[in-house]
Order: sequence, then structure tokens, then C-alpha cells
Amino acid sequence: MEYAAFFLFLSSLLTFIYALTIFGRRNSRLPPGPYPFPIIGNLLQVGNKPHHSLAILSKRYGPFMSLMLGSKTTIVISSPDMAKEFFHTNDQSFSGRFITEAIRSVDHHKFSLVWSPGGDQLRRLRRITKEYMFSVRCLDDSELRRREKVRELLDHVNQCSVEARAVNIGSTTFTTILNILSTFIFSLDSSQYDSVSSQEFKDNVWALMEYAGMVNLADFFPILKPFDPQGIVRRGSVHLKKLLTIFDKLIDQRIQTRLSSSSNDGISSTKNDVLDLLLNLKQKDESEFSQIGLGHLFLDLFVAGTHSTSSTVEWAMTELIRNPDKMATARSELVKLMQHDNRNIEERDIIQLPYLRSIIKETFRLHPPAPFLVPHEAIHDVEVRGFVVPKNAQILCNVWAMGRDPNIWPAPEMFMPERFLEDEINYKGQYFDLIPFGTGRRICPGLNIAHRMLHMTLGSLIHKFDWKLEGDMRAQDMDMEEKFGITLQKKVPLMAIPIKGCLRL
Ligand code: HEM
Repeated sequence: MEYAAFFLFLSSLLTFIYALTIFGRRNSRLPPGPYPFPIIGNLLQVGNKPHHSLAILSKRYGPFMSLMLGSKTTIVISSPDMAKEFFHTNDQSFSGRFITEAIRSVDHHKFSLVWSPGGDQLRRLRRITKEYMFSVRCLDDSELRRREKVRELLDHVNQCSVEARAVNIGSTTFTTILNILSTFIFSLDSSQYDSVSSQEFKDNVWALMEYAGMVNLADFFPILKPFDPQGIVRRGSVHLKKLLTIFDKLIDQRIQTRLSSSSNDGISSTKNDVLDLLLNLKQKDESEFSQIGLGHLFLDLFVAGTHSTSSTVEWAMTELIRNPDKMATARSELVKLMQHDNRNIEERDIIQLPYLRSIIKETFRLHPPAPFLVPHEAIHDVEVRGFVVPKNAQILCNVWAMGRDPNIWPAPEMFMPERFLEDEINYKGQYFDLIPFGTGRRICPGLNIAHRMLHMTLGSLIHKFDWKLEGDMRAQDMDMEEKFGITLQKKVPLMAIPIKGCLRL
């Protein structure tokens, strides 16, 4: 009897809370969206492929939709018009970040660029990356370093081809990108292709990506924060700390080397890499970098720059192997350009390779590495199209759904690089139909280096080799499933055997 009374009380309470939630929602000025359940909100509707489920919900509620994820108000936008409204018209108001517990646990948000909530810290770090790392001049000056790393990639693939061994395209390209970035920043290689030892750096960056992409319930139910129920904060912070320690050591070593080889003007340059440039800045007092600040910036660059770039190459190769006619067109464009001197592709060639450029755009359209960009947050209440986006609401821009919208792209499910050949459209932030790097004040600062690395890596792989699938699998049988995380990875890695192409290495 007591149990019956308790259950009656509990179900009345839940019904009351539910009625209150619905009533509250009807009277709020939030954009339309599905009714949230008490406490959990709409979490169950999101599932493990949120970009899919939110695309389906947007068909019903429109491209400006609101949800509750636990206690977090979440706004989902999924059209170029809405992206313009948020990141152009109201750019400043929506430039905050939703800082997760894992990031907070090591105070990363206090020094980070990616997780900076805005203000002076964001402006200073963005200016430094723009002027001292990714300007056209800095990138031109460091081109030879990247060329050398691509050359090493080709040597490795060539060796696999001699041994008829399959290449794990995603992991191999990840190593290349990691080495390009670490030679650019520290003048060091951080990973080898075939080695099982000395992979500490690669393993930590890779693991961090995995943890950063997990949905942590404590982010949506503040009451769970002290318990870390999935262990994400505890395990993620181990890798965060390890990487920060590695960076600290490298910075310390460099400071010592500079001290012992200091030149007359008091500013010493030993390697002429990003670390040297930033230490020079620090020395001239032009920047307020502490050593801690430098380590956190490097952490951002490696975590934001590696997976995003390597998974784009993996998806592009997957689509090309599935579409051999497109692979042939791309290769013939490369062979034609390079036929007189039988050389490797260089960055200056990119401008003369419209089909290769279209392949990258088409890959971004179908497989944007960050399907929701990096979640933004409203820094105050903002009225948009008659609705209110409340302060601290999380903003998800579903670029994955935009890329597959038949109202924007004819035959959206097909891989057709040709659609971009006659089109001016690029991904630098002015064309809201295609914004894989975001747009506005939080657009990816690494866009220019990513652009160069992508074309160089993919171009070299298809220029120099034919590819067939491991175990004679048919291209149409390839698993195209995605795995949702901080980047949209291929669930089953692409394993392909390189066959020496028509040109000699
Ligand atoms: C295919 C390659 C890449 C893609 C698709 C990509 C995409 C993105 C996206 C969508 C954002 C968030 C934009 C927003 O908040 O609206 C972002 C931010 C960022 N990216 Fe990239 N990225 C790539 C490569 C790189 C590289 C190579 C680096 C640096 C080495 C880099 C560094 C950063 C940083 C530091 C941020 C944070 C900027 C901020 O919060 O203000 N990214 N990227």
C-alpha cells in the first residue's frame, strides 16, 4: 500500500513537472523544437549520431531550432541563411564557447585559443597565430619543411607498394600532418611511420581527440560534475597533462639553447621555427606569453590541426577509390601539369589544379570534419527573427546537414567534384553554403596551412600511385559509416594497397 502511494505520488510529480516544462516552453520565446522530457530534456532524441538526428529534427522544426540537452539550452541552426544571421550579423554575440568539464579540469580554457570565451585573450592569440604562424609569408618561408615531410610520406608509401602492403590512410596521413606541424613549430619529428616505440606524442594527441569527442553527461547535468561518472575528465586529463609536460620540456630545452647561443642584439634565433618566433616575441615583450600559455597554444594547434586534416584526406581517398573515373581525372590533371619535369607536386601548383581543388571542396561538403563546427555559446540574450537565444545557450551549426540539403545541392548524396568546377565558391568563410572551417571571428585560424597540407598530401598520393582495396574488396562494398566525435571519422579505417603509378618516384 505504501509502495502504491509512493508510485502514485512520483507519477503525479513527474506529470506535473512535464506539464510545467511544456507550459514553460509554450510561453518562452525560444525557437521551435521538440518538447523536452523533464530532467533529461531531448538527450534521448540525439543518439550517437547527433548530426543525423538533428538533421532529421530540423526537417520538422526548421533550420532554427531549440532543444534542451539535460539542463543546457541548445540552438541548432542548419541553413546558410541562419549561419549568416548568427556568424555575420550577430557574430560578436555568438562568439563565446561552451567550455566542457574536461577542458576546465586542467584550466586549459584560461590559456587556450580554441576554448577562449572571447575578449582580450582571444584577440591576442588570434593576432599571434595570424601574424606569426599562418600568414602567407610565414607559410611560404616554411614550405620546404612541409615538402620534405610529404616526401617522407611518399617514401613510406613506396615501401608499402614494394611489399604489396596495405596503408592505413587515416593513420598514415595523421603521422604526416603531426610531423609537418611539429617541424613547423619545434623543428622536430614527433612520430615515425613504422615504429611502435617513440609514439608517445602521437598516442596522446590521438587519445585526446577520442576523449574530447565523447559526450560527457556531467556537461549537461551539473549535479554530476563532482562524480565524473564516465571517467572522461579523469582519463582525458592524463593525456592533456602528458602533452603539456612534453611541450614544457621542449620549451625549456629551447630556452637553454638560446641562452647559450645568444647573439649581440640579445635576441637569439636558433631554428627559425614558430617556437623561436614566439620566444623572440616574448623576449621583446610584445606579447604577454608565459611559458604555460605557449604550451596551451601548442596543445590547441596539434589537437585542432591533425585529425581534422588527416580525416579529410581519408574521406577524399575513400570517395576517389569508390569513384575510379574521378580518381583517373584527378591523376591525369596532375600528370599533365608535371609531365615535363617528372617532379613532385609543390604548393605553387595548387592554383593550377582545379579538379584537385574541387575534390577537396566536395569532400568538405559531404564529410565536414567538424559537423557542428566547434560549439559556440551566446554571450548575452539575443533576439533573432522574433525569437530569443538566451545567454549561455549552446549554438550548434549543423554544416553536415547543410552539405546534404537538396535545396542547396542537386543530387546531394553523390560525390561530384565537377559541381565546383564552374563555381566561384570557396571555403574561406564568405560562402555560407560551404563553411567547414566556420566563418566570422572564430573561423579556423589554421585554414591556410590546412589548405596547403590537404592538397599536397592528397595530390601526392594520387599522382604517384594507383590504389586498390585490401583483400580485393570491391569499392562498392566499402563501409562508409561515420563515427561521431570531435571530428567525423571513418568508422572502419580505409586500408588500401598502393600500386606504383605511371610515373617514377
Ligand atoms: C581540414 C582541416 C581543418 C578543418 C576542417 C578545421 C575546422 C575548424 C573549425 C570548424 C573550427 C571552429 C570554427 C568555429 O568555431 O566556428 C576550427 C577552429 C580552430 N582551428 Fe581548425 N580546422 C582544420 C585545421 C586546422 C589546423 C591545421 C590548425 C592549426 C594548426 C587549426 C587550428 C584551429 C584553432 C586554433 C581553432 C580555434 C579558433 C578559435 O576558437 O577562435 N585548424 N577549425
